[in-house]
Amino acid sequence: MSYQKLEQIEGEALKHFQQAQNSKELYDQKVRFLGKSGSLTEVMKEMGHLSKEEKPFFGKKVNETKQKLEQAYVDAEEKLKRREIEDRMHQEELDMTLPATHAPAGGPHPVYSVMEEIFTIMSRLGYSLRTGPLVERDYYNFEALNIPQNHPARDMQDTFFIDESHVLRTHTSPIQIHSLESEAPPLRIIGTGSVFRCDSDISHLPHFHQIEGMCVDRKVSMADLKGTITFFVSEFFGPGLKTRFRPSFFPFTEPSAEVDCQCPLCKGKGCSLCKQSGWIEIGGAGLINPKVFEFAKINYPDWQGFAFGFGLERMAIIKYGIEDIRLLPENDIRFLRQMSL
Ligand code: DAH
Repeated sequence: MSYQKLEQIEGEALKHFQQAQNSKELYDQKVRFLGKSGSLTEVMKEMGHLSKEEKPFFGKKVNETKQKLEQAYVDAEEKLKRREIEDRMHQEELDMTLPATHAPAGGPHPVYSVMEEIFTIMSRLGYSLRTGPLVERDYYNFEALNIPQNHPARDMQDTFFIDESHVLRTHTSPIQIHSLESEAPPLRIIGTGSVFRCDSDISHLPHFHQIEGMCVDRKVSMADLKGTITFFVSEFFGPGLKTRFRPSFFPFTEPSAEVDCQCPLCKGKGCSLCKQSGWIEIGGAGLINPKVFEFAKINYPDWQGFAFGFGLERMAIIKYGIEDIRLLPENDIRFLRQMSL
């Protein structure tokens, strides 16, 4: 037993602690030198053979060595841990310059875009949005709009009946009645949404969308209606497009008109979209029939009004030059991608 051996163990242990490549290797070295049957422990066991005089000195030296090695172990462990963390951070480093993976995003449907655009334009004239139920009472869809039961005017709109007194609404005009019943004039409202008709061919869809406008005030004339629609048409289709009213009939307006606008594609010269006429029909309009005010219990002529109704699919095909109206409900993704502007 000698100091020399102790120094040798210390030197060896320090060297191996330093050289350990990972926590496991380091721990193995700890066991080898400081463990139950490690070299230093063996030395301590052999101390029994020392003389009384030698024992305290050597014992002190052994303890010092033990403490030193234990500290060296802690330091080495700390160093390794830090290195392991650094290595991991290096491996998991994010490369912010890599191009992002492409996630295809949806976009608004052209009919929805048209609806939103119309609403934005009309809100500048003080109109605000209303909706209504898709399944309507016969009363709101027909009666209160001055279309009595068994009246020939009902033939204008082929109807899906739910039962005797309920229908899938055939137009957005019932929204006018809901508003007249529940709100106090003056009113400027836009009503929009799905409508349903029991027919389907090249130019008719069983499910389509309409936008309805209604203005109720003290004094309202055809000139106000024409001014409003002319403003709307030039904002929506482009400046300078003329608007034309043709006499027509709707039970809920008197007088009534079909509204045409100059073809936005050829600017009135004549093309295939407007069938060479230079004009395109966009919907119906008129002054609210006093009978409608009577149903809604509004005093006419204290209050007067105009209303109009346009088909959104029609507005979309005119605006975007879509050749076939049926492309809109089909929702073929290739078509929708071309439309997402
Ligand atoms: N509701 C009519 C239809 O679907 C369109 C319409 C015409 C609405 C004249 C109106 C209007 O508000 O005044 O055929």
